Amino acid sequence: MAKAWSPSSWHAFHAEQQPQWPDQGDLDRALKQIASYPPLVFAGEARSLQASLAQVAAGNAFLLQAGDCAESFEEFSAVNIREKLRVILQMSVVLTYSLGVPVVKVGRIAGQFAKPRSQPVETVGDRELPTFRGHMINGDAPTEAARVASPDRLVQAYNQSAATLNLLRAFTKGGFADLGRVHAWTQEFVASSPEGQRYQQIAREIENALRFMRACGVDTEHNHQLHETDVYTSHEALLLGYEEALTRQDSLTGGWYDCSAHMLWIGDRTRSLESAHVEFLRGVGNPIGCKLGPEASPEFVLELCERLNPARLPGRLTLISRMGSNRVEDALRPLLRAVHESGHPVVWACDPMHGNTTVSVSGRKTRDFNAITDEIDGFVRAHKAEGTWPGGIHVELTGDNVTECTGGADKILDSQLDDRYQTVCDPRLNGRQSLDLAFHVAEKLRSTGLA
Ligand code: PEP
Ligand code: CO
Repeated sequence: MAKAWSPSSWHAFHAEQQPQWPDQGDLDRALKQIASYPPLVFAGEARSLQASLAQVAAGNAFLLQAGDCAESFEEFSAVNIREKLRVILQMSVVLTYSLGVPVVKVGRIAGQFAKPRSQPVETVGDRELPTFRGHMINGDAPTEAARVASPDRLVQAYNQSAATLNLLRAFTKGGFADLGRVHAWTQEFVASSPEGQRYQQIAREIENALRFMRACGVDTEHNHQLHETDVYTSHEALLLGYEEALTRQDSLTGGWYDCSAHMLWIGDRTRSLESAHVEFLRGVGNPIGCKLGPEASPEFVLELCERLNPARLPGRLTLISRMGSNRVEDALRPLLRAVHESGHPVVWACDPMHGNTTVSVSGRKTRDFNAITDEIDGFVRAHKAEGTWPGGIHVELTGDNVTECTGGADKILDSQLDDRYQTVCDPRLNGRQSLDLAFHVAEKLRSTGLA
C-alpha cells in the first residue's frame, strides 16, 4: 500500500537537481508569496486535457508537445510568444490534415524555466562556475555573481508564466488560430524553400479541403471550431517547492492539482522510483509525463506506471522516450510490449531531441535534423512492429529564425551555427525546420500505413 500523499509528502524523499539557495529564509518567503497567489490554470482545464490525451492513448488523436528548451526572462515579448504559437499551430494543421485525427497541442511554455543539469559546474575560459540552471534559478551570464541562485526569480517566473498564459489564451480564442490564416503561412513556407516544395502536394490538399468546406457553406472564418483552438501549457516539474506552492485543492472534486501548468513531466534525471519527483507527481490530478532514456528497463517502466497511474486512467500518463536515433528501435520495443501486455493505457510520445545532442566543430551544442527525423522514424517503426500507436512528438523549437540545429529546410551547416545561436540552453529547431518536421512526421505515418 502506498503511503498517504500530500502536497508536501515529497519532503521525506530525496530530491535530485534542486538548487543550492543561499538563504533558506529568502526561499521560504518567495514560496509563501507564490502560495498566496492565484493558480495559473484551473483544474477543469487539466481534466479536459486528460480527456483529450485519453483519445491519444486510444489511437484516436495525436499529441504535439513543443516549445523552448528553457524559456528566457530576457527574450520575453509578445512577438516571441506569438511566433512560437504560430509554429505550433502550423505544425498542428499539417498533422491534423495528414493524420486525419485531432492534434492535442501542449506548449513547453508559460513555466518551462528550470533545467536539470548533468554537471554542477562548468569551465568558462580558465574559470570554474556553477552551471546555469534556468532563469527561475540563476542567470546565464558567465560570472560568479550571475550564477548564484536567487528566490526572487521564482516569483518572476510565476509572473512571466501568468502573462504568457494570458496572451496564449487571447491569441487562441481571438482569431489568431484561424485555420485559413494558419494555412496561408504554411503556403509561404512551401513556396519559399526547395525542401518545402516537396510538401506541395499536402499543402494543396489542405487548400482544397478548405475550399470544399467553404463551397459546402461552412463559414470558415466565423465557425468557432475553425477559428479558435486549445493550446495547453506544460513544463518539467523540477523545482518541487515551486510546484508545491501552486498545488491547490479543486473545489469541485476535492482533488489536488498542480496549478502551475496543465501538464507536468518528470525528467530523465529525476525519475527514479523512490525520487521526490515521482512522489510529488503521483498525487496530483493533472495529466503527467515521464521521460525515458535508453537505460529504462521494462520492469522499471511497469513499476513507474503502477506508481503514477495505479487507477489506470487513460490520458493520465504520457511516456516520452528520448533514446537517440540509433538506439530507439531496439530500446523501445521491449517497453512498448511490456506496457501493452500490462494493459496500462499510456500515451507514447517521441522526444527526438535529447538523445541526439552533439557538439559542433566550433564547440556549439547542436542537433542534426536527420538524426531528429531518424529517431522519429525508429519510433514509428517500433510502434508499427508492436501494434501500438505512436501517439505524439515532443520537440524543442522556437518561431525565430535561429541557427541552432543543423540541416532541415534551409540546410543549415555546422559553419552557420554562430550566425544566430540564441538559445539559453539546448539547440532548438527554428520555425522552418519545425514545419519541415511536421511534414516529415505526416509522411512517415502515412507511408507506414498508420495514418
Ligand atoms: C528537457 O526536456 O529539456 C530535458 C532536460 O529532457 P530530459 O529530461 O529527457 O533530458
Ligand atoms: Co532541452
